[in-house]
Amino acid sequence: MIVENQLASLLSSLQPALRSGDYVYAAWPAGTAVDDGVAAVIREEEGTTAVLTRERADELGLDYSFVAAWITLEVQSALDAVGLTAAVSSALTAAHISCNVLAGLHHDHLLVPAGEAARAMEILRELSAEHQGREPGPAALTIRAETPADRPAILELVAQAFAVSPATGLAVEGTPVEVGLLRQLFDADEYLPELSIVAESDREIVGYAISTRAWVNDLELLGLGPIGVTPRLQQHGIGSALMAETIRRANAAGERGIALLGSPDYYSRFGFVAADSFGIAAPEEAWGRYFQFLPLALWPGGVQGTFRYALPFKEL
Ligand SMILES: CC(C)(COP(=O)(O)OP(=O)(O)OC[C@H]1O[C@@H](n2cnc3c(N)ncnc32)[C@H](O)[C@@H]1OP(=O)(O)O)[C@@H](O)C(=O)NCCC(=O)NCCS
Repeated sequence: MIVENQLASLLSSLQPALRSGDYVYAAWPAGTAVDDGVAAVIREEEGTTAVLTRERADELGLDYSFVAAWITLEVQSALDAVGLTAAVSSALTAAHISCNVLAGLHHDHLLVPAGEAARAMEILRELSAEHQGREPGPAALTIRAETPADRPAILELVAQAFAVSPATGLAVEGTPVEVGLLRQLFDADEYLPELSIVAESDREIVGYAISTRAWVNDLELLGLGPIGVTPRLQQHGIGSALMAETIRRANAAGERGIALLGSPDYYSRFGFVAADSFGIAAPEEAWGRYFQFLPLALWPGGVQGTFRYALPFKEL
């Protein structure tokens, strides 16, 4: 285990990762043993505070007011490292994002207001990039729902992002299939306006992600994709911000889970795992572990079946 002590080095390798789901602080009932659903406990003279998923708090009927997103700084930080917490909370404070810090033996964890998760992730990535001597990401990134006026810019962005096939690594001849797919998704019954999300910087659309209605048997789920970022701005956290916002919006809308086809190396950082471990078979068996699933707070479990994307995917 490597434990970093130098502040600049710690900041350059923060690696913020967003846990799925919302978390809350609740007073834990006196005399009750703390259960596995609780992620942290603080005992005070006045009583015991539990930090737990919102879902579990609701199951237990516990009261809460602050609903948080949980960000783990995956850098290994020593408990006696000086300045990391101050640097991180200053950066978030400057952006008017409140932040509660919990330290474990291995990592520091930040609880920020759930609605600010995407922005907080962006700020932490920029803080880290500044200490790597890399160009910081776009100064102000807005993540919002798409409007029809954005569509030409979105289609152009997707054409650029998929000009090299993510599957083969080879240049694509002509217009990438993702462009035609997206045109059809915009007009499909399965289109969900609140889950067609753009990232905008200086009035330029620099990232895009769409999730559309999909199913396993009769259970409504989401199929995510395409997602793309303007090539010159890739690796600056824009894709992560779009993923975080998609997950936040999907949870807020009471969705059950999101499936996608993509690199497990990338999507595992958002909590996605092989879909078949949840009883969900890929539409194409050959997709194997590249077909991934993220259960959301309202995931019912006990599901067995093959995933069906929105109709336009069939025509690919
Ligand atoms: C994939 C994509 C959406 C990610 O967005 P991004 O803004 O570039 O990514 P972020 O800055 O949020 O994340 C960067 C991190 O993800 C990793 N990453 C990015 N794309 C990856 C991929 N395809 N496979 C594995 N890791 C990947 C980077 O190595 C980097 O890792 P680090 O944080 O450890 O340094 C973007 O690169 C893109 O548009 N690619 C072309 C189109 C595409 O492949 N779409 C997805 C098809 S499933």
